[in-house]
Amino acid sequence: MEIENIVRKTIIDLKPYTPGKPIEEVKRELGLDEVFKLASNENPVGPSPKAIGAINTVLNNLNRYPDASCFYLKEKLAKFWKLDIDNFIIGNGSDEIIALTLKAFLNPGEEVIISNPTFLMYEILAKIEGAVLKVVAMKNFRYDLDAIKKSITDRTKIIFIANPDNPCGTYVNKKEVEDFVKGISKEIVLFFDEAYYEFMDVVDYPDTVSFINERPCVVSRTFSKVYGLAGLRVGYGIATPEVIQCLGKVKDPFNVNSLAQAAALSALDDQDFVQGVVRLTKNGREYLFKEFKRMDIEYIESYTNCILVKIGDKSGELCEYLLKNGIIIRNMAAWGLYDYIRVSIGLENENEKLIVLIEEFLKKEEKEK
Ligand SMILES: Cc1ncc(COP(=O)(O)O)c(C=O)c1O
Repeated sequence: MEIENIVRKTIIDLKPYTPGKPIEEVKRELGLDEVFKLASNENPVGPSPKAIGAINTVLNNLNRYPDASCFYLKEKLAKFWKLDIDNFIIGNGSDEIIALTLKAFLNPGEEVIISNPTFLMYEILAKIEGAVLKVVAMKNFRYDLDAIKKSITDRTKIIFIANPDNPCGTYVNKKEVEDFVKGISKEIVLFFDEAYYEFMDVVDYPDTVSFINERPCVVSRTFSKVYGLAGLRVGYGIATPEVIQCLGKVKDPFNVNSLAQAAALSALDDQDFVQGVVRLTKNGREYLFKEFKRMDIEYIESYTNCILVKIGDKSGELCEYLLKNGIIIRNMAAWGLYDYIRVSIGLENENEKLIVLIEEFLKKEEKEK
Protein backbone atom coordinates (compact mmCIF):
# COMPACT_ATOMS: atom_id res chain seq x y z
CA MET A 1 0.00 0.00 0.00
CA GLU A 2 1.40 3.37 -1.05
CA ILE A 3 1.14 5.92 1.74
CA GLU A 4 0.10 8.57 -0.84
CA ASN A 5 -3.08 6.62 -1.43
CA ILE A 6 -4.28 6.94 2.13
CA VAL A 7 -2.79 10.17 3.46
CA ARG A 8 -4.82 13.40 3.34
CA LYS A 9 -4.40 14.72 -0.20
CA THR A 10 -3.64 18.26 0.94
CA ILE A 11 -0.39 17.20 2.64
CA ILE A 12 1.15 14.97 -0.03
CA ASP A 13 3.40 17.73 -1.40
CA LEU A 14 3.62 19.74 1.80
CA LYS A 15 7.10 20.79 2.95
CA PRO A 16 7.13 20.87 6.75
CA TYR A 17 8.29 24.03 8.52
CA THR A 18 12.00 23.92 9.35
CA PRO A 19 12.61 25.80 12.58
CA GLY A 20 15.91 27.38 13.62
CA LYS A 21 18.23 24.74 15.09
CA PRO A 22 18.10 24.50 18.89
CA ILE A 23 21.27 25.56 20.79
CA GLU A 24 21.69 22.15 22.45
CA GLU A 25 21.58 20.34 19.09
CA VAL A 26 24.33 22.53 17.65
CA LYS A 27 26.47 22.11 20.78
CA ARG A 28 26.04 18.34 20.59
CA GLU A 29 26.64 18.02 16.85
CA LEU A 30 29.59 20.40 16.60
CA GLY A 31 31.12 19.81 20.03
CA LEU A 32 30.86 23.51 20.94
CA ASP A 33 30.63 24.84 24.51
CA GLU A 34 29.09 28.17 23.66
CA VAL A 35 26.43 28.71 21.03
CA PHE A 36 24.38 31.87 20.36
CA LYS A 37 21.02 31.57 18.67
CA LEU A 38 20.06 34.48 16.45
CA ALA A 39 17.73 32.43 14.28
CA SER A 40 14.17 32.47 15.57
CA ASN A 41 13.42 36.06 16.60
CA GLU A 42 13.37 35.07 20.23
CA ASN A 43 13.93 37.35 23.18
CA PRO A 44 17.63 36.91 24.10
CA VAL A 45 17.19 38.21 27.66
CA GLY A 46 15.11 35.32 28.99
CA PRO A 47 11.64 35.28 30.50
CA SER A 48 10.53 37.91 33.00
CA PRO A 49 11.42 36.84 36.57
CA LYS A 50 7.75 37.39 37.44
CA ALA A 51 6.76 34.73 34.92
CA ILE A 52 9.23 32.25 36.41
CA GLY A 53 7.88 32.97 39.90
CA ALA A 54 4.33 32.34 38.70
CA ILE A 55 5.27 28.97 37.21
CA ASN A 56 6.57 27.84 40.60
CA THR A 57 3.20 28.52 42.20
CA VAL A 58 1.33 26.16 39.87
CA LEU A 59 3.75 23.21 39.82
CA ASN A 60 1.85 21.37 42.54
CA ASN A 61 -1.32 21.40 40.45
CA LEU A 62 0.15 19.71 37.39
CA ASN A 63 -1.98 16.64 38.11
CA ARG A 64 -5.00 18.74 37.01
CA TYR A 65 -5.95 19.69 33.46
CA PRO A 66 -5.41 23.36 32.67
CA ASP A 67 -8.31 25.82 32.62
CA ALA A 68 -9.78 25.16 29.18
CA SER A 69 -11.12 28.70 28.88
CA CYS A 70 -7.94 30.44 30.14
CA PHE A 71 -10.33 32.63 32.13
CA TYR A 72 -7.83 34.59 34.24
CA LEU A 73 -5.50 35.30 31.34
CA LYS A 74 -8.39 36.51 29.18
CA GLU A 75 -9.68 38.60 32.05
CA LYS A 76 -6.28 40.23 32.48
CA LEU A 77 -5.86 40.81 28.74
CA ALA A 78 -9.33 42.36 28.60
CA LYS A 79 -8.36 44.82 31.32
CA PHE A 80 -4.97 45.47 29.73
CA TRP A 81 -6.42 46.27 26.29
CA LYS A 82 -9.68 47.78 27.60
CA LEU A 83 -11.80 45.23 25.78
CA ASP A 84 -14.23 42.51 26.86
CA ILE A 85 -13.21 39.05 27.99
CA ASP A 86 -15.32 37.70 25.09
CA ASN A 87 -13.02 39.46 22.63
CA PHE A 88 -10.17 37.03 23.38
CA ILE A 89 -9.11 33.49 22.59
CA ILE A 90 -5.83 32.08 23.87
CA GLY A 91 -3.76 29.80 21.67
CA ASN A 92 -0.84 27.44 21.89
CA GLY A 93 1.31 30.20 20.48
CA SER A 94 -0.20 32.62 17.97
CA ASP A 95 0.49 29.88 15.41
CA GLU A 96 -2.61 28.20 16.78
CA ILE A 97 -4.72 31.32 16.22
CA ILE A 98 -3.72 31.15 12.53
CA ALA A 99 -4.65 27.46 12.43
CA LEU A 100 -7.98 28.01 14.21
CA THR A 101 -8.95 30.83 11.85
CA LEU A 102 -8.35 28.60 8.85
CA LYS A 103 -10.18 25.66 10.44
CA ALA A 104 -13.15 27.79 11.43
CA PHE A 105 -13.61 29.85 8.25
CA LEU A 106 -12.11 28.09 5.24
CA ASN A 107 -14.05 25.70 3.08
CA PRO A 108 -11.80 23.54 0.89
CA GLY A 109 -11.22 25.21 -2.48
CA GLU A 110 -11.64 28.74 -1.17
CA GLU A 111 -8.79 31.18 -1.62
CA VAL A 112 -6.34 32.43 0.95
CA ILE A 113 -4.16 35.41 0.05
CA ILE A 114 -0.67 35.53 1.48
CA SER A 115 2.38 37.55 0.54
CA ASN A 116 5.96 36.66 -0.26
CA PRO A 117 8.25 36.75 1.65
CA THR A 118 6.31 36.42 4.87
CA PHE A 119 5.74 34.10 7.81
CA LEU A 120 5.80 30.58 6.35
CA MET A 121 3.12 29.10 8.58
CA TYR A 122 0.28 30.82 6.68
CA GLU A 123 1.12 28.80 3.59
CA ILE A 124 1.65 25.52 5.44
CA LEU A 125 -1.50 25.73 7.55
CA ALA A 126 -3.63 26.99 4.64
CA LYS A 127 -2.45 24.12 2.44
CA ILE A 128 -3.32 21.59 5.13
CA GLU A 129 -6.86 22.98 5.16
CA GLY A 130 -7.13 22.61 1.38
CA ALA A 131 -6.89 26.31 0.53
CA VAL A 132 -6.24 27.60 -2.94
CA LEU A 133 -3.27 29.85 -2.27
CA LYS A 134 -2.78 33.20 -3.93
CA VAL A 135 0.69 34.57 -3.34
CA VAL A 136 1.19 38.30 -3.82
CA ALA A 137 4.76 39.53 -4.19
CA MET A 138 5.90 42.23 -1.80
CA LYS A 139 7.05 45.54 -3.18
CA ASN A 140 10.47 46.61 -1.90
CA PHE A 141 10.09 44.06 0.89
CA ARG A 142 6.84 45.66 2.11
CA TYR A 143 3.32 44.26 1.93
CA ASP A 144 1.76 45.47 -1.32
CA LEU A 145 -1.78 46.13 -0.11
CA ASP A 146 -2.97 47.47 -3.49
CA ALA A 147 -1.84 44.31 -5.25
CA ILE A 148 -3.47 42.20 -2.54
CA LYS A 149 -6.76 44.07 -2.99
CA LYS A 150 -6.59 43.58 -6.76
CA SER A 151 -6.08 39.83 -6.34
CA ILE A 152 -9.31 39.37 -4.35
CA THR A 153 -11.96 37.28 -6.11
CA ASP A 154 -15.37 36.03 -5.03
CA ARG A 155 -13.60 32.84 -3.83
CA THR A 156 -11.31 34.73 -1.40
CA LYS A 157 -11.97 33.85 2.25
CA ILE A 158 -8.95 34.87 4.34
CA ILE A 159 -6.15 37.43 3.86
CA PHE A 160 -3.07 37.20 6.07
CA ILE A 161 -1.08 40.33 6.85
CA ALA A 162 1.95 40.16 9.11
CA ASN A 163 2.49 43.64 10.43
CA PRO A 164 5.38 44.07 10.94
CA ASP A 165 6.46 41.29 8.67
CA ASN A 166 8.80 38.43 9.42
CA PRO A 167 11.34 38.07 7.77
CA CYS A 168 11.39 41.62 6.31
CA GLY A 169 10.81 43.59 9.53
CA THR A 170 8.87 46.22 7.55
CA TYR A 171 5.36 47.46 8.34
CA VAL A 172 2.33 48.94 6.63
CA ASN A 173 1.03 52.12 8.21
CA LYS A 174 -2.32 53.31 9.53
CA LYS A 175 -3.38 55.16 6.38
CA GLU A 176 -2.37 52.29 4.09
CA VAL A 177 -4.24 49.75 6.17
CA GLU A 178 -7.34 51.95 6.57
CA ASP A 179 -7.50 52.54 2.81
CA PHE A 180 -7.00 48.84 2.19
CA VAL A 181 -9.79 47.74 4.52
CA LYS A 182 -12.30 50.11 2.88
CA GLY A 183 -14.47 48.29 0.40
CA ILE A 184 -13.26 44.76 1.12
CA SER A 185 -16.18 42.32 1.25
CA LYS A 186 -17.42 41.47 4.73
CA GLU A 187 -17.39 37.82 3.67
CA ILE A 188 -13.61 37.91 3.85
CA VAL A 189 -11.72 37.48 7.12
CA LEU A 190 -8.75 39.82 7.53
CA PHE A 191 -6.05 38.34 9.72
CA PHE A 192 -3.61 40.87 11.16
CA ASP A 193 -0.65 39.04 12.66
CA GLU A 194 0.95 41.37 15.18
CA ALA A 195 3.47 39.00 16.76
CA TYR A 196 5.97 41.90 16.97
CA TYR A 197 3.43 44.54 18.06
CA GLU A 198 5.35 45.58 21.19
CA PHE A 199 8.47 46.46 19.20
CA MET A 200 6.61 49.00 17.09
CA ASP A 201 7.76 52.44 18.11
CA VAL A 202 6.15 54.50 15.34
CA VAL A 203 3.27 56.97 15.46
CA ASP A 204 1.56 55.70 12.32
CA TYR A 205 1.14 52.05 13.32
CA PRO A 206 -2.45 50.96 12.55
CA ASP A 207 -5.03 50.33 15.26
CA THR A 208 -6.35 47.10 13.75
CA VAL A 209 -8.41 46.25 16.83
CA SER A 210 -10.63 49.17 15.84
CA PHE A 211 -11.75 47.15 12.78
CA ILE A 212 -13.07 44.14 14.67
CA ASN A 213 -16.58 45.53 15.13
CA GLU A 214 -16.79 46.75 11.55
CA ARG A 215 -15.94 43.56 9.70
CA PRO A 216 -14.70 39.96 10.15
CA CYS A 217 -11.20 40.39 11.45
CA VAL A 218 -8.76 38.58 13.74
CA VAL A 219 -5.79 40.32 15.36
CA SER A 220 -3.16 37.98 16.80
CA ARG A 221 -0.43 38.75 19.29
CA THR A 222 1.97 36.60 21.26
CA PHE A 223 3.93 36.07 24.46
CA SER A 224 6.73 34.41 22.46
CA LYS A 225 8.61 37.51 21.41
CA VAL A 226 8.98 40.54 23.66
CA TYR A 227 7.66 38.62 26.70
CA GLY A 228 10.25 35.88 26.24
CA LEU A 229 7.92 32.90 26.67
CA ALA A 230 8.42 31.16 23.30
CA GLY A 231 9.12 27.85 25.03
CA LEU A 232 5.73 27.81 26.74
CA ARG A 233 3.67 28.47 23.61
CA VAL A 234 1.09 31.11 24.37
CA GLY A 235 -0.45 33.70 22.06
CA TYR A 236 -3.90 35.19 21.60
CA GLY A 237 -6.48 36.36 19.14
CA ILE A 238 -8.66 39.48 19.40
CA ALA A 239 -11.98 39.56 17.54
CA THR A 240 -15.72 40.01 18.08
CA PRO A 241 -17.40 37.48 20.40
CA GLU A 242 -19.06 35.91 17.32
CA VAL A 243 -15.72 35.30 15.60
CA ILE A 244 -14.13 34.15 18.86
CA GLN A 245 -16.94 31.61 19.35
CA CYS A 246 -16.23 30.18 15.89
CA LEU A 247 -12.53 29.82 16.71
CA GLY A 248 -13.44 28.23 20.05
CA LYS A 249 -15.48 25.54 18.31
CA VAL A 250 -12.43 24.12 16.54
CA LYS A 251 -9.84 24.36 19.32
CA ASP A 252 -8.62 21.51 21.48
CA PRO A 253 -10.15 21.93 24.92
CA PHE A 254 -6.85 22.05 26.82
CA ASN A 255 -4.74 23.83 24.23
CA VAL A 256 -2.80 26.08 26.62
CA ASN A 257 -1.00 24.37 29.50
CA SER A 258 -1.21 25.63 33.09
CA LEU A 259 2.41 26.79 33.24
CA ALA A 260 1.91 28.92 30.14
CA GLN A 261 -1.29 30.46 31.48
CA ALA A 262 0.30 31.37 34.83
CA ALA A 263 3.48 32.71 33.26
CA ALA A 264 1.68 34.85 30.69
CA LEU A 265 -0.59 36.27 33.39
CA SER A 266 2.38 37.48 35.43
CA ALA A 267 4.44 38.52 32.41
CA LEU A 268 1.72 41.02 31.51
CA ASP A 269 2.29 42.68 34.89
CA ASP A 270 5.97 43.15 34.13
CA GLN A 271 5.86 46.06 31.70
CA ASP A 272 9.25 47.32 32.95
CA PHE A 273 10.72 44.09 31.65
CA VAL A 274 8.96 44.58 28.31
CA GLN A 275 10.32 48.12 28.02
CA GLY A 276 13.82 46.85 28.82
CA VAL A 277 13.63 44.26 26.03
CA VAL A 278 12.31 46.84 23.58
CA ARG A 279 15.22 49.19 24.45
CA LEU A 280 17.81 46.44 24.16
CA THR A 281 16.37 45.41 20.79
CA LYS A 282 16.40 48.97 19.49
CA ASN A 283 20.01 49.51 20.59
CA GLY A 284 21.05 46.17 19.08
CA ARG A 285 19.29 47.00 15.84
CA GLU A 286 20.98 50.39 15.58
CA TYR A 287 24.37 48.81 16.31
CA LEU A 288 23.86 46.18 13.60
CA PHE A 289 22.61 48.75 11.05
CA LYS A 290 25.70 50.85 11.75
CA GLU A 291 28.04 47.89 11.36
CA PHE A 292 26.36 46.69 8.15
CA LYS A 293 26.70 50.20 6.72
CA ARG A 294 30.37 50.29 7.72
CA MET A 295 30.95 46.99 5.90
CA ASP A 296 28.90 48.16 2.92
CA ILE A 297 26.37 45.37 3.38
CA GLU A 298 22.79 45.96 2.21
CA TYR A 299 19.96 45.30 4.67
CA ILE A 300 16.25 45.93 4.93
CA GLU A 301 15.30 48.67 7.40
CA SER A 302 13.60 46.60 10.08
CA TYR A 303 11.27 47.80 12.83
CA THR A 304 11.37 44.56 14.73
CA ASN A 305 13.83 42.13 16.29
CA CYS A 306 15.22 40.61 13.09
CA ILE A 307 17.04 41.97 10.07
CA LEU A 308 17.13 40.67 6.52
CA VAL A 309 20.67 41.11 5.24
CA LYS A 310 21.87 40.80 1.63
CA ILE A 311 25.04 38.77 1.43
CA GLY A 312 24.92 37.53 -2.16
CA ASP A 313 25.69 34.07 -3.47
CA LYS A 314 27.77 33.17 -0.41
CA SER A 315 24.79 33.40 1.97
CA GLY A 316 24.57 29.65 2.50
CA GLU A 317 28.30 29.41 3.15
CA LEU A 318 28.13 32.27 5.62
CA CYS A 319 25.38 30.44 7.53
CA GLU A 320 27.61 27.36 7.71
CA TYR A 321 30.61 29.43 8.79
CA LEU A 322 28.65 31.11 11.56
CA LEU A 323 27.23 27.79 12.72
CA LYS A 324 30.69 26.22 12.95
CA ASN A 325 31.74 29.19 15.02
CA GLY A 326 28.79 29.00 17.36
CA ILE A 327 26.15 31.33 15.94
CA ILE A 328 22.88 30.01 14.55
CA ILE A 329 21.19 32.36 12.08
CA ARG A 330 18.51 31.78 9.44
CA ASN A 331 19.28 30.66 5.94
CA MET A 332 16.64 32.27 3.72
CA ALA A 333 16.53 29.48 1.13
CA ALA A 334 13.16 28.31 2.50
CA TRP A 335 11.75 31.70 1.40
CA GLY A 336 13.56 31.55 -1.97
CA LEU A 337 15.75 34.49 -0.88
CA TYR A 338 19.04 32.81 -1.73
CA ASP A 339 21.09 36.02 -1.46
CA TYR A 340 19.89 36.83 2.04
CA ILE A 341 20.29 35.79 5.63
CA ARG A 342 18.04 36.73 8.53
CA VAL A 343 19.58 37.56 11.88
CA SER A 344 17.66 38.05 15.09
CA ILE A 345 18.88 40.79 17.38
CA GLY A 346 20.70 39.34 20.37
CA LEU A 347 22.47 40.55 23.49
CA GLU A 348 25.29 43.06 23.01
CA ASN A 349 28.06 40.44 23.08
CA GLU A 350 26.10 38.19 20.68
CA ASN A 351 25.61 41.01 18.16
CA GLU A 352 29.30 41.91 18.43
CA LYS A 353 30.44 38.34 17.84
CA LEU A 354 28.09 38.13 14.84
CA ILE A 355 29.72 41.19 13.28
CA VAL A 356 33.26 39.95 13.95
CA LEU A 357 32.48 36.62 12.28
CA ILE A 358 30.68 38.14 9.28
CA GLU A 359 33.62 40.46 8.70
CA GLU A 360 36.10 37.59 9.08
CA PHE A 361 34.12 35.51 6.57
CA LEU A 362 33.87 38.30 4.00
CA LYS A 363 37.61 39.08 4.26
CA LYS A 364 38.42 35.39 3.80
CA GLU A 365 36.16 35.26 0.75
CA GLU A 366 37.77 38.39 -0.67
CA LYS A 367 41.24 36.89 -0.31
CA GLU A 368 40.21 33.64 -1.99
CA LYS A 369 38.80 35.45 -5.02
C1 LIG B 1 4.89 36.91 12.02
C2 LIG B 1 4.80 35.78 13.01
N1 LIG B 1 3.60 35.35 13.40
C3 LIG B 1 3.46 34.36 14.27
C4 LIG B 1 4.56 33.73 14.81
C5 LIG B 1 4.33 32.59 15.73
O1 LIG B 1 4.62 32.88 17.01
P1 LIG B 1 4.09 32.03 18.23
O2 LIG B 1 3.33 30.85 17.69
O3 LIG B 1 5.30 31.63 18.97
O4 LIG B 1 3.19 32.95 18.97
C6 LIG B 1 5.84 34.13 14.46
C7 LIG B 1 7.03 33.47 14.99
O5 LIG B 1 8.13 33.65 14.63
C8 LIG B 1 5.97 35.19 13.53
O6 LIG B 1 7.17 35.62 13.12
